[in-house]
Amino acid sequence: MARNYYMAGNWKMHMTRSEAATLAQDLVNKLADGKHKYLVAPSFTLLETVSAVVENTNIRLGAQNCAPEEQGAHTGEVSVLQLKELDVQTIILGHSERRHIYKEDDALINKKVKLALKHGFEVILCIGELLEEREAGKVEEVCERQTVKGLEGVDAGDLHNVVIAYEPVWAIGTGKTATPQDAEAVHGFVRKVIARLYGQDAADKIIIQYGGSVKPDNAAQLMAMENIDGALVGGASLKTDSFIPIAKFS
Ligand code: PGA
Repeated sequence: MARNYYMAGNWKMHMTRSEAATLAQDLVNKLADGKHKYLVAPSFTLLETVSAVVENTNIRLGAQNCAPEEQGAHTGEVSVLQLKELDVQTIILGHSERRHIYKEDDALINKKVKLALKHGFEVILCIGELLEEREAGKVEEVCERQTVKGLEGVDAGDLHNVVIAYEPVWAIGTGKTATPQDAEAVHGFVRKVIARLYGQDAADKIIIQYGGSVKPDNAAQLMAMENIDGALVGGASLKTDSFIPIAKFS
């Protein structure tokens, strides 16, 4: 089953507006002839600036989170309606930093997933185990729970707008990448979970990205794995010199 690679940059809480505009323009120029699907996800305050730069290009615009409600008394939150206005196409949900620093649980993440899908966004649902969970042999249990609960109540008809990102927490920002074989084992397992929930055809089609210290020198080996369909890149997405070789891996 041929799936298109999806290479995404999660800029996290980095960059000023002028830096973001410069990086986005550089990516637009250098990825214009790229063959894969691309995304950049800047901070909320940078979205309008980056939106203007990536409009009508082959780079999608992503947000890093959204509120679980459309509007109302939610101080400090940003709504899907506000993201839509800025032409955001994709929302990253359940990132490990949201789960572990900001204590978002599966139920809250599921609420956001359903709301984002209802409004026509593509969702990148992040899953992944902590180091102690890996050491306790709980990788599959954790990834299955986060996938099943994250997608609870999501209709099969919306699954084409769902991307899963497997990001082992111990590999994020640490320079420790999962070996291609270790990552592949989890990706294959998650695809089986999707098959159980939505059938084999949906499982064959769903894009499962790997994230966690993806760098120019390990991207190609990871992407060579059968069930790894792209990357969600943090640190290395902040510079063209490191993101372009990942995005155009060969
Ligand atoms: P990293 O981050 O590439 O810096 O490890 C990945 C992520 O958190 O999406």
